[in-house]
Amino acid sequence: MEKTKEIYAVCHVNDVAKRRAVGYVLARLDESGKTVPFPIVIARHQGRFYGYVNCCPHQAARLDFEPKQFMDPSLRFLLCGKHGAQFDIVSGICRDGPCKGQKLERVEIIVDQDEICVVGVELAEEDGLDRPENDETPEIVIQPE
Ligand code: FES
Repeated sequence: MEKTKEIYAVCHVNDVAKRRAVGYVLARLDESGKTVPFPIVIARHQGRFYGYVNCCPHQAARLDFEPKQFMDPSLRFLLCGKHGAQFDIVSGICRDGPCKGQKLERVEIIVDQDEICVVGVELAEEDGLDRPENDETPEIVIQPE
Protein backbone atom coordinates (compact mmCIF):
# COMPACT_ATOMS: atom_id res chain seq x y z
CA MET A 1 0.00 0.00 0.00
CA GLU A 2 1.38 3.42 -0.91
CA LYS A 3 1.74 5.86 1.93
CA THR A 4 -0.39 8.97 1.57
CA LYS A 5 1.63 12.13 1.21
CA GLU A 6 1.09 14.80 3.83
CA ILE A 7 -0.07 18.17 2.55
CA TYR A 8 0.59 21.35 4.49
CA ALA A 9 -0.99 24.66 3.55
CA VAL A 10 1.63 27.40 3.73
CA CYS A 11 -0.08 30.49 2.33
CA HIS A 12 -2.75 31.84 0.03
CA VAL A 13 -1.90 32.32 -3.63
CA ASN A 14 -2.39 36.08 -3.21
CA ASP A 15 0.39 36.15 -0.63
CA VAL A 16 2.92 35.69 -3.43
CA ALA A 17 2.60 38.54 -5.91
CA LYS A 18 3.30 38.10 -9.61
CA ARG A 19 7.02 37.95 -10.41
CA ARG A 20 7.86 37.87 -6.72
CA ALA A 21 8.98 35.35 -4.14
CA VAL A 22 8.22 35.02 -0.45
CA GLY A 23 10.15 33.19 2.23
CA TYR A 24 8.64 31.06 4.97
CA VAL A 25 10.31 29.24 7.79
CA LEU A 26 8.59 25.97 8.56
CA ALA A 27 9.77 23.40 11.06
CA ARG A 28 10.71 19.83 10.32
CA LEU A 29 12.13 16.87 12.16
CA ASP A 30 15.72 15.83 11.51
CA GLU A 31 16.97 12.23 11.61
CA SER A 32 17.22 12.30 15.41
CA GLY A 33 13.67 13.59 15.78
CA LYS A 34 14.79 17.09 16.73
CA THR A 35 12.78 20.05 15.43
CA VAL A 36 14.85 22.22 13.11
CA PRO A 37 14.00 25.26 10.97
CA PHE A 38 13.04 24.51 7.39
CA PRO A 39 13.29 27.76 5.41
CA ILE A 40 11.67 27.71 2.00
CA VAL A 41 10.99 30.22 -0.73
CA ILE A 42 7.92 30.20 -2.96
CA ALA A 43 8.25 32.06 -6.26
CA ARG A 44 5.50 33.04 -8.68
CA HIS A 45 6.42 33.06 -12.33
CA GLN A 46 4.11 33.17 -15.35
CA GLY A 47 1.11 32.06 -13.35
CA ARG A 48 2.79 29.12 -11.68
CA PHE A 49 4.37 28.61 -8.28
CA TYR A 50 7.77 27.09 -7.56
CA GLY A 51 9.11 26.00 -4.19
CA TYR A 52 12.73 25.68 -3.12
CA VAL A 53 14.66 25.20 0.07
CA ASN A 54 15.97 28.64 0.95
CA CYS A 55 19.61 27.59 0.87
CA CYS A 56 22.13 28.65 -1.72
CA PRO A 57 24.24 25.80 -3.14
CA HIS A 58 27.32 28.05 -3.01
CA GLN A 59 27.85 28.52 0.72
CA ALA A 60 24.52 27.36 2.12
CA ALA A 61 23.44 30.93 2.87
CA ARG A 62 19.82 31.91 2.72
CA LEU A 63 18.98 33.58 -0.55
CA ASP A 64 17.40 36.54 1.26
CA PHE A 65 20.68 37.77 2.61
CA GLU A 66 18.89 41.10 2.58
CA PRO A 67 15.60 40.55 4.40
CA LYS A 68 12.73 39.69 2.05
CA GLN A 69 14.87 40.21 -1.07
CA PHE A 70 14.69 37.15 -3.28
CA MET A 71 14.58 38.55 -6.79
CA ASP A 72 17.16 40.14 -9.06
CA PRO A 73 16.36 43.70 -10.15
CA SER A 74 14.80 42.50 -13.43
CA LEU A 75 12.46 40.19 -11.45
CA ARG A 76 13.38 37.37 -13.84
CA PHE A 77 15.61 35.33 -11.53
CA LEU A 78 15.88 34.27 -7.92
CA LEU A 79 18.93 35.96 -6.44
CA CYS A 80 21.24 34.99 -3.62
CA GLY A 81 22.07 38.27 -1.97
CA LYS A 82 25.33 37.05 -0.45
CA HIS A 83 27.43 36.76 -3.62
CA GLY A 84 24.89 37.42 -6.35
CA ALA A 85 24.10 33.98 -7.77
CA GLN A 86 21.11 34.09 -10.10
CA PHE A 87 18.79 31.10 -10.36
CA ASP A 88 16.28 30.19 -13.02
CA ILE A 89 12.89 30.22 -11.32
CA VAL A 90 11.52 27.21 -13.17
CA SER A 91 14.50 24.84 -12.94
CA GLY A 92 16.29 26.26 -9.89
CA ILE A 93 19.60 26.06 -11.78
CA CYS A 94 22.17 28.78 -11.17
CA ARG A 95 22.65 30.58 -14.48
CA ASP A 96 25.25 33.07 -13.29
CA GLY A 97 27.38 33.40 -10.19
CA PRO A 98 29.83 31.41 -8.08
CA CYS A 99 27.72 28.23 -8.17
CA LYS A 100 26.86 28.35 -11.87
CA GLY A 101 25.27 25.08 -12.98
CA GLN A 102 24.31 23.99 -9.46
CA LYS A 103 20.72 23.76 -8.39
CA LEU A 104 18.45 24.89 -5.60
CA GLU A 105 16.74 21.99 -3.82
CA ARG A 106 13.15 21.82 -4.98
CA VAL A 107 10.25 21.64 -2.55
CA GLU A 108 7.21 19.98 -4.05
CA ILE A 109 4.21 22.28 -3.84
CA ILE A 110 0.67 22.17 -5.14
CA VAL A 111 -2.14 24.70 -5.22
CA ASP A 112 -5.29 23.41 -3.54
CA GLN A 113 -8.31 25.74 -3.39
CA ASP A 114 -6.08 28.80 -3.67
CA GLU A 115 -3.80 27.58 -0.91
CA ILE A 116 -0.16 26.89 -1.71
CA CYS A 117 0.71 23.63 -0.03
CA VAL A 118 3.95 21.78 0.60
CA VAL A 119 3.72 18.10 -0.23
CA GLY A 120 5.73 15.13 0.95
CA VAL A 121 7.75 16.79 3.71
CA GLU A 122 7.30 15.72 7.29
CA LEU A 123 6.90 18.98 9.14
CA ALA A 124 6.79 19.62 12.86
CA GLU A 125 3.98 21.77 14.16
CA GLU A 126 6.06 24.55 15.57
CA ASP A 127 6.83 28.02 14.39
CA GLY A 128 8.71 31.07 15.52
CA LEU A 129 12.05 29.42 14.82
CA ASP A 130 13.50 32.27 12.87
CA ARG A 131 14.13 35.96 12.68
CA PRO A 132 10.65 37.42 12.98
CA GLU A 133 11.55 40.50 10.96
CA ASN A 134 12.62 38.44 8.04
CA ASP A 135 9.98 35.84 7.45
CA GLU A 136 6.36 35.24 7.10
CA THR A 137 5.41 32.59 9.61
CA PRO A 138 2.35 30.74 8.46
CA GLU A 139 0.04 28.79 10.59
CA ILE A 140 0.62 25.26 9.42
CA VAL A 141 -2.59 23.48 8.65
CA ILE A 142 -2.57 19.75 8.21
CA GLN A 143 -5.17 18.71 5.71
CA PRO A 144 -6.33 15.11 5.88
CA GLU A 145 -6.35 13.24 2.60
S1 FES B 1 26.20 31.96 -0.77
FE1 FES B 1 24.88 32.35 -2.44
S2 FES B 1 26.12 33.14 -3.97
FE2 FES B 1 27.48 32.73 -2.33
